[in-house]
Formats: sequence, C-alpha cells, structure tokens
Amino acid sequence: MKVYRMASIPADGIGPEVIAEGVKVLNTVAELDGGFRFDWTEFPWGCEYYLKTGKMMDEDGMERLKDFDAIYLGAVGAPGVPDHISLWGLLLAIRKGFDQYVNLRPVKLLRGAPCPLKGVEPGGIDMTFVRENSEGEYAGSGAWLYKGQPNEVVIQNGVFSRVGCERIIRYAYDLARREGRTLTSISKGNALNYSMVFWDQIFEEVGREYPDVKTCSYLVDAASMFMVRDPKRFEVVVTSNLFGDILTDLGAAITGGLGLAAGANINPERRYPSMFEPIHGSAPDIAGKGIANPLASIWSAAQILDFFGHENWGKRVLGAIETLLSEGRTLTPDVGGKASTNEVGDAVVRLLNNLK
Ligand code: NAD
Ligand code: IPM
Ligand code: MN
Repeated sequence: MKVYRMASIPADGIGPEVIAEGVKVLNTVAELDGGFRFDWTEFPWGCEYYLKTGKMMDEDGMERLKDFDAIYLGAVGAPGVPDHISLWGLLLAIRKGFDQYVNLRPVKLLRGAPCPLKGVEPGGIDMTFVRENSEGEYAGSGAWLYKGQPNEVVIQNGVFSRVGCERIIRYAYDLARREGRTLTSISKGNALNYSMVFWDQIFEEVGREYPDVKTCSYLVDAASMFMVRDPKRFEVVVTSNLFGDILTDLGAAITGGLGLAAGANINPERRYPSMFEPIHGSAPDIAGKGIANPLASIWSAAQILDFFGHENWGKRVLGAIETLLSEGRTLTPDVGGKASTNEVGDAVVRLLNNLK
C-alpha cells in the first residue's frame, strides 16, 4: 500500500480547527480508496510555540520537514506576536526554503456558494490564479535606515529575476495549454517601469513558445475592476506575488468568501515537499468559537489529492463541498448557516461515504 508521509502544522487561531477537518476528510478518502494511506506527523509550531521558545519553528525544522511528501498548514499569526515575525519565521520560511515558487489558487464559484455579484451563475467564475510565490515584493529585500530619527528611511525592494519570472510564466502557459484555456497576465508596466516592464517582456518572450495559447494582458487596477464587472474573461491568470495576494482575496470575496478559498504552494520539480493551506489567516476574531469554515482547508486537501495523482478523489471532495453548499443545510455562519466547523467536516465525510 502506498503511504504518504504528511506533515501537519495547524499553527494559530482557527488553523487547528480547520486542519482537523481536512485531516479527517483525507483519512476518509484513503480508507475508501484502499490503495493508499496517510501517515501524519503533527508539528506544534506557531505563535504559542514562539512565546514559549522564542522560535516559530525548531532550528532544524526545515531539515525535519524536507522528507515529507507534503505539508498541510492551517494559519499563522496571533495577537501578541508581530505578524512579520510570525510569518517570516514559519509560513514564508517554508515557502522560500522549499522553493515553492508556484502559488496555485482556484477562484471558482461553486453551486450554492454565495456570490455578491449580480447575474453571475456558477460556472461564470472559473479562474486559476498562478501567483509568483518566491520573490517580487515579498522577497524580503530592503533596508531601514536612520531608525527612529527624523530622517528615517525604509526601502522595500521588488525583486524580479529572469529565472523567477520565466519559471512562473512558463508554468502558467503549460497549465493553460494543458487545460485548453486562455492565459491572462496581470502587471503594472505603466508605473513600475523596471519590474513590470521586465515581467511583460518575459510574458511575451515565453509566449512565443506557446502560439496555441490565447493570451491577454491587463494592468492590475483595470484587472481588479474586471474581476468584479466581468469575471468570466479570466481563466488561467499569472501575476506577481503582491498582486496575486491581493487579487485572490478579491477572488475569494466574489466566490463565497475566505472560508472557501484554497491554495497550494508548489515546488513543481518535487525536489522539496509542497505545502497546502487555506488562503485565509488565523481569524483571531472567531478563533476558538468552533464556527470557522473548514471548506477552504478541505478544498486544499482536494489539491493534495490532485497533486498525488488522485484527481478522481480530488474531484469527489470538491463535489462533496459543492453538494453541501447547494443543499445549504450544514454550513458555517460565514456562508449563511448555523453549523459548527466540526459538523461541516462530518457532513463532507458522510457525503464521501455515501459514494460507496
Ligand atoms: P483573516 O483571513 O484571518 O481574516 C479576515 C476575515 O475573514 C475575518 O473576519 C475572519 O473571521 C474571516 N475568515 C477568515 N477565514 C475564515 C474561515 N475559515 N471561516 C470563517 N471566516 C473566516 O485575515 P486577517 O484578519 O487580515 O489576519 C489575521 C492574522 O492571520 C494575521 O496575523 C495575519 O498576518 C495572518 N494571516 C495568515 C495567513 C496564513 O497563514 N496563510 C494568511 C493571511 C493572514
Ligand atoms: C497569503 C497570506 C500571506 C501572503 C501572508 C500572511 C504573508 O496573506 O497566503 O495570502 O501574503 O503570502
Ligand atoms: Mn493573502
């Protein structure tokens, strides 16, 4: 039997609540399939750990993670620990250390998901965001000069390497070609006269190898407007780290909210483990209340199944999420229901068991 070695890092706030449900779903799938199972190792890292030890993860954390087949992460961040410390000490350290340069985020309106846009039907929003995940504005390059003095200056560099841009853009072209969908690049060459002019140039250069892929380019300001006014014009989308971060929260807002938005941090070469997580944060405002929506993390569990080549199961898990949303009986408050986190996870498990 195939055994997948899984590292789970539930971390902070609602992270542990939603990860528990995703683990339950993955174990159910494995049981139903019979051909594979998941071997879980949970790591206690996160903000509480930091307050006890002064570290977000152990010194040898990356070494211990590197042989897992995948990492399943909840959310990082808690009041009491500065966000740049917690995020750079765990989530960003893993994304960067394991060269997970592709952040794959589906923005898809499922049947039954609440959509705030008028006249948009399920199927009317079906995008795959390919967010650059290793450099750009989140490269961590800059300086803080004359700290605390009247002439204080901060510099945050946007880092765009040829290798970094080419590999993410190529990944997106390959995906669009494979799926027979259009590819849209989102940038901002009018104002960002180095980084985004370079990005646009590489989008065009790489595109010459993909004459069969229909492309489109938007400036990010116009793109955010079109995502609301005419979302169906986007299919596969490739963009920089910062723009991808912001636009995928917007994407979540038009497809049912952060409680439904999943993401995968992929190292396509599979030299290192990839990491799967809901795109939402630790939601301190609702943590501990048992009302966090676990469907985003369950959707990222479906991405794990896809990544391991069990697309049939990935589809079934997504199908179960869609059924639950359209039935509308067992949903958390963020999507208009009264159920608890736990009840939603159990309902997904029940739907999967009914497929037998
Ligand atoms: P957030 O995503 O945690 O929350 C934004 C809003 O969405 C809140 O009102 C929250 O209650 C709601 N929400 C989020 N997920 C939900 C879910 N599953 N079910 C129901 N409602 C949900 O963003 P924030 O408030 O800006 O950040 C809180 C903390 O999380 C900060 O420390 C931030 O740095 C961190 N953060 C971490 C990640 C990550 O680990 N991937 C992502 C974003 C933010
Ligand atoms: C996300 C998050 C992170 C990011 C933060 C918490 C560093 O917002 O995964 O979208 O911007 O990448
Ligand atoms: Mn984000």
